[in-house]
Amino acid sequence: MRRFTLGILTAALMLGAHTPALAGNGPAYRDAWRPVKFRVADLLSRMTLDEKIGQMTQAERLGIKAPGDVTKGMLGSLLSGGSSQPTPNNAITWADMYDGFQKEALATRLGIPLIYGVDAVHGHNGLYGATVFPHNIGLGATRDASLVMKIGRATAEEVSGTGIDWNFAPCLCIARDDRWGRTYESFGEVPEIASAMTTVIDGMQGRSLSAPGSVLATAKHYIGDGGTTGGDDQGETDISEAELRAVHLPPFREAVRRGVGSVMISYSSWNGLKMHAGSYLINDVLKGELGFSGIVISDYNGIDQIDRQPGFTPAEVTASINAGIDMVMVPFEYQKFTDTLKAEVLAGRVTRARIDDANRRILTKKFELGLFERPLTDRRFLKTIGSDEHRALARQAVRESQVLLKNENRVLPLDKSRNRIFVAGKSADDIGNQSGGWTVGWQGKSGPVTEGTTILQGIRHTAKPSSTVTFDKDANGIDKSYDVAVAVVGETPYAEGRGDRPEGMGLDAEDLATLKRLHDSGVPTVVVLVSGRPLDIAGQLPEWDGLIASWLPGSEGQGVADVLFGDYNPTGKLPVTWMRSADQQPINVGDGKSGLFPFGFGLRYRHGW
Ligand code: GLC
Repeated sequence: MRRFTLGILTAALMLGAHTPALAGNGPAYRDAWRPVKFRVADLLSRMTLDEKIGQMTQAERLGIKAPGDVTKGMLGSLLSGGSSQPTPNNAITWADMYDGFQKEALATRLGIPLIYGVDAVHGHNGLYGATVFPHNIGLGATRDASLVMKIGRATAEEVSGTGIDWNFAPCLCIARDDRWGRTYESFGEVPEIASAMTTVIDGMQGRSLSAPGSVLATAKHYIGDGGTTGGDDQGETDISEAELRAVHLPPFREAVRRGVGSVMISYSSWNGLKMHAGSYLINDVLKGELGFSGIVISDYNGIDQIDRQPGFTPAEVTASINAGIDMVMVPFEYQKFTDTLKAEVLAGRVTRARIDDANRRILTKKFELGLFERPLTDRRFLKTIGSDEHRALARQAVRESQVLLKNENRVLPLDKSRNRIFVAGKSADDIGNQSGGWTVGWQGKSGPVTEGTTILQGIRHTAKPSSTVTFDKDANGIDKSYDVAVAVVGETPYAEGRGDRPEGMGLDAEDLATLKRLHDSGVPTVVVLVSGRPLDIAGQLPEWDGLIASWLPGSEGQGVADVLFGDYNPTGKLPVTWMRSADQQPINVGDGKSGLFPFGFGLRYRHGW
């Protein structure tokens, strides 16, 4: 009998039967032996319009008001925004949270699992105790695509350990004006670096999406977010199509070639049209020309911006879906969204074909991720979170990301023995500052925000007992008895538009006072600049003997000490041009302007240091 059934099934499969055939004792879409295409078609044929619209809706977990809301809303997806973490914030509470929501999704009529997104943009940075890798601008300075692939894998493992299956990363933005608050989320000012670093997608998505530890990656933000006038976050990218294609499109083309599972749309506009209504660039270019077959997702309340008025209207819902957005990140107003979209479909302003296309894309990724077979957290990956192996990888990334910009009188590398070292600066002993934004909170913050090693701890750990390491944040107590001073200064954490700096890019008063105290002492000074971008330091540079651009190194500050003491000979190269002054912005390689340090610049220690 079984052989007979198998024969029938094979024949049906060969003939591409469209009528959902029962496999074994369940519906065909539940049969993992069948091709994904077949399972999607079967499931789609069983879904109501309400269920299909639910799949296109992504709510913020904080928007889920009562148990059962996910089931009732037939929601296809949830997210944790930058500061949306369970309390207490640990791997078990994350995994239990994910499993709880997933069980609600499985309780729907067809039991379609949800897919859950986070911004693990430099490690599973929303999770306390996770490994925090250098932000992208530092990874761009490494020029090490294979290292970045490993980081993608390590991040995916830590994310998977908490159940999460969708990562809103990598940001493939090309930062053309460093006044932009998201410059540090960029790999640099030229497309070649970002295109090379799309290896991070391979790391995240693994050899297959269904493999243990793989998560869905997201190329973002499509397109032109780093090219706005004045570096205005979510602003206007007023450039020709030729420039858009030459500067901002290549990393997305490469990401699609690598099979990236999703693409997030940018808040910015292109020549006056908000990207969330950008049908030509989404439908014709991304989906048509590039052949992208994954999920196009909006940004957080992104469709609200189309008419540049607060909230969203039926016209904005229709414009975004018809522009090619398949899933809408509508954190709290998800009921209003589903009602509105349904009304627009019933009115014929959004076709059922468009709804089905979006669902095919979403369901295909859910089947490919293996969510129907293994919907709950794979807790085998819990042990990878903050593991020694991952922290060692992050430390190597920190080493390779440091860019040595000045080394007068060979003040560097520091001598480990018989050395009186004075360490100062607000970011010397501050893991929050060295990690930057998107770290256990959307904006990040100064202080002991997570576990790891500060730069000062790295220095203390590396210097021999025969040396003296003195720390005072403000450089009080510095005197000529010290052989060298290390000042760790720069920016405090920020994210997105809050980091825009149209008014100037100089050091703050606290840093300037610390540096003056050191300079007045006459002790040779090495500055370690912890920042998300080049800062306006030309005025102070002559007073410094050494300068390292440290970017935002993350939890493993030991990597900075490794370079300071010469355990690693710096190899980092500037991924952005370093301006002489902020009024040179935008300044980029090839534009004819002469900066303080050119794109690609980076010194090494001479042999036999
Ligand atoms: C934010 C960011 C985007 C992020 C999303 C979800 O506003 O623009 O990069 O993925 O919202 O947190």
